[in-house]
Amino acid sequence: MSGFTRDHNRLHVDGLPLEDIAAEFGTPLYVYSADAITAAYTRFHEAVAGADGHIHFALKANSNMAVLRLLARLGAGADIVSGGEMQRALAAGIAPEKIIFSGVGKTDAELLAAFEAGIGQINAESPAEVDAIIRLAEAHGHHCRVALRVNPDVDAKTHAKIATGKSDTKFGISMEDCLPLYRRMAESQVITPAGLAVHIGSQIMTLEPFENAWVNLLDLAETLRDEGLDVPGLDLGGGLGVDYTTGQPADINGFGDLITRLFGNRQYRLGFEPGRWIIAEAGALLTRVIYTKKAPSKQFAIVDGAMNDLIRPTLYEAYHRIETVADLNTPEEPLDIVGPVCETGDYLGLNRMMPRLTDGDLLAVMSAGAYGAVMRSSYNTRPPAAEVLVINGKAHLVSPRQSVADLIALDTIPDDLR
Ligand code: LLP
Repeated sequence: MSGFTRDHNRLHVDGLPLEDIAAEFGTPLYVYSADAITAAYTRFHEAVAGADGHIHFALKANSNMAVLRLLARLGAGADIVSGGEMQRALAAGIAPEKIIFSGVGKTDAELLAAFEAGIGQINAESPAEVDAIIRLAEAHGHHCRVALRVNPDVDAKTHAKIATGKSDTKFGISMEDCLPLYRRMAESQVITPAGLAVHIGSQIMTLEPFENAWVNLLDLAETLRDEGLDVPGLDLGGGLGVDYTTGQPADINGFGDLITRLFGNRQYRLGFEPGRWIIAEAGALLTRVIYTKKAPSKQFAIVDGAMNDLIRPTLYEAYHRIETVADLNTPEEPLDIVGPVCETGDYLGLNRMMPRLTDGDLLAVMSAGAYGAVMRSSYNTRPPAAEVLVINGKAHLVSPRQSVADLIALDTIPDDLR
């Protein structure tokens, strides 16, 4: 499904040599395949459409405007977590009614902006947020659709920093608190209850945590329905992972079967918020070797991409495959692939077996389409990686590289210091 293939001893994306793209746009550079995004979106859609499933792409995984426009054209809605992401989704052409606003800390300004834009569903994550929604909607004469995000107290069996389903995390509302709160929403003049939502974490590779969470969610939904309350939709969240060691996405057919088994004839509109599954495999980070270096017990390839471009290895001990773009046919040796940032934690890969590298060799850090570019920064005053999207065999620069002057211009020196 990935658009990256090895052909004539070189790595290509959608038929284009990555060497050519790197030569044209420079490195470090994110490269995405529109074909791979389209294929992944279509597969996910096919797996859930039969069960009245609707995709709300999680912008946090990749919010490049060209990527969003492509997904909007494919029919995707959006899952957003800030007023900024709302503006991106709307500007990309995603209809407001297809947007779900998640997140534990929406400000008054963000809620008002969501009301004004006619956002389709707000997922409230606390009783205090429901209070704020009612207060603001009453004061400003708005009406909105609100779902409650349930905390099902389920272990997602993923990295601790991205697990959100246990009761000791900041996410969602306990099952007990949801009952009175849902009744309260149903009685409010300014809210139409949209149902319940759940999201237990990210990079989940087995179906069991989803099943555990969804069974709890369904239980609560049926209890509410038994009371005569309207529960039109269940938002089942995102979280389906990809196998970073092989580049294979988690089993979508099994995922689809589980949905049919649990929700098959229960008459809920189902929402899905995938991010990683749609976009991770469709992107790679290209980076060039600056120097190679030998320490007494280690070898390093120092490359021009760093933790400020891709922070996942540093932050989550995440593994990304790293390949040479050209087949080198040099003997393999163990080495660390590190960036120029002044921290020992600045690495893209540790203890890798790689063909012997030399200065200028081009490497591709694979499965980097999700949570790569969106988490980049200019730490060490390094202009972060630019982004290219390949559409129909043509490479388009979709996020140009900032200059150091651009970065410096973001700061101001007060007159008192002049
Ligand atoms: N919906 C909600 C409410 C979420 O919080 C998230 C992810 C998603 C959907 C999308 O999850 P996905 O399908 O992409 O797993 N930066 C981390 C991942 C953080 C995920 C946060 N929430 C990483 O690089 O692994």
